[in-house]
Amino acid sequence: MPTVREIEAAGYRSLKSIRFPVGPLSVFVGGNGTGKTNLYRALGLLQAASAGTLTRALAAEGGMESVLWAGSRRKGEPARVRLSAELADETTGHAYTYAVEVGIPPPVSGGAFALEPQVKTERLTLQGGARPVTVLDRDGPAGFVRDEEGRKRSFGTDLLPTETALAALQDAVRFPELQIVRQAMEAWRFYHDVRTDAGSPLRRPCLAVTTPTLASDGADLAAVFATLAHIRGDTVDLDAAFADAFPGARLMVPPPEREARFGVIFAEYPKRIFEPSELSDGTLRYLALAGALLAYRLPPFLALNEPETSLHPDLMEPLARMIVQASKRTQVWLVTHSERLAAAVAESGGVRPRLVLKREGATGIEGLRLSGDFSQDEAGEEDD
Ligand SMILES: Nc1ncnc2c1ncn2[C@@H]1O[C@H](COP(=O)(O)OP(=O)(O)OP(=O)(O)O)[C@@H](O)[C@H]1O
Ligand SMILES: [Mg+2]
Repeated sequence: MPTVREIEAAGYRSLKSIRFPVGPLSVFVGGNGTGKTNLYRALGLLQAASAGTLTRALAAEGGMESVLWAGSRRKGEPARVRLSAELADETTGHAYTYAVEVGIPPPVSGGAFALEPQVKTERLTLQGGARPVTVLDRDGPAGFVRDEEGRKRSFGTDLLPTETALAALQDAVRFPELQIVRQAMEAWRFYHDVRTDAGSPLRRPCLAVTTPTLASDGADLAAVFATLAHIRGDTVDLDAAFADAFPGARLMVPPPEREARFGVIFAEYPKRIFEPSELSDGTLRYLALAGALLAYRLPPFLALNEPETSLHPDLMEPLARMIVQASKRTQVWLVTHSERLAAAVAESGGVRPRLVLKREGATGIEGLRLSGDFSQDEAGEEDD
């Protein structure tokens, strides 16, 4: 599956205009309110574009009035949120650049509600052949999409102004490039604020169905563990990661019947199995992170926003080891407030944490140049 090579966002909250390269392991640190979560959310919106829920997601965030960059715009510049991702497939040598712009409907529109976000432009280009090919080019209702033979076709009347063509044109045989990009982005997973309170689904058994990848809310954690223990039949990494954080403790994953469950035996009470409902928030959160990072199959892109929440500082090194281990299998994106976690991931993952900062209300990344890459001296440091 293609991996993410570059991300661009403009006009979205504190992301006035930013473009930067993305490698196998990205670590973002920085003060409160600098825009780390906005960067993370911009990725979520790209995924929403592929799932057909982009304008709904923006409406749910408070609508265009809330999400549009609050600073001043140049005269005549339209009020738009622009998101773009470059994906690269190493096996085929193809690179796909998808970009979408969302704005406010014109005063007399008909195609959308008065304040509803609307897709303004959309473009997909393919690189890797003799020259770049524009596969999809949309400007409002006008534009074209190329079919499997390279012929330009119009969108037809089915495409609503509130829909992305990327999600709406589902015919995989006729529009294979759209399918590749859509599938890749839809498979990204975001783990943010997994609930561990008393009513959290993590504390209850879940259906025993083979579950290769943890859901974003962690609700199928027991099934993820059961899949490792009884389908793969190998919990070496999982057991090691758990013992790494909680020395002497053991994770118990019985063969499931209708429901999957797990428990923990602590060294102090070797005869007693603690149910998830009895575990501390931190223990449960660490287990959820283990489920996300050590699952049978990892998503092609895995993003964690502040995973350290409610974890003791001593768990940062064990967590860092899981994150680095996952980054050998897939692309990982980490936002953290923990200097200790950032340092540990950077050290064992061989990357440099990126400092997110705000200049005149706009999110930036230290060392990021206008050209959209990181300055030379930094790249040099990263290589050694
Ligand atoms: N429409 C907007 N235009 C400009 N800035 C905005 C807009 N909406 C939100 N912001 C700014 O974005 C910032 C919040 O960004 P974000 O949530 O990404 O911060 P963060 O780096 O994740 O912070 P924390 O570490 O506290 O989680 C706030 O400073 C807020 O003022
Ligand atoms: Mg945040």
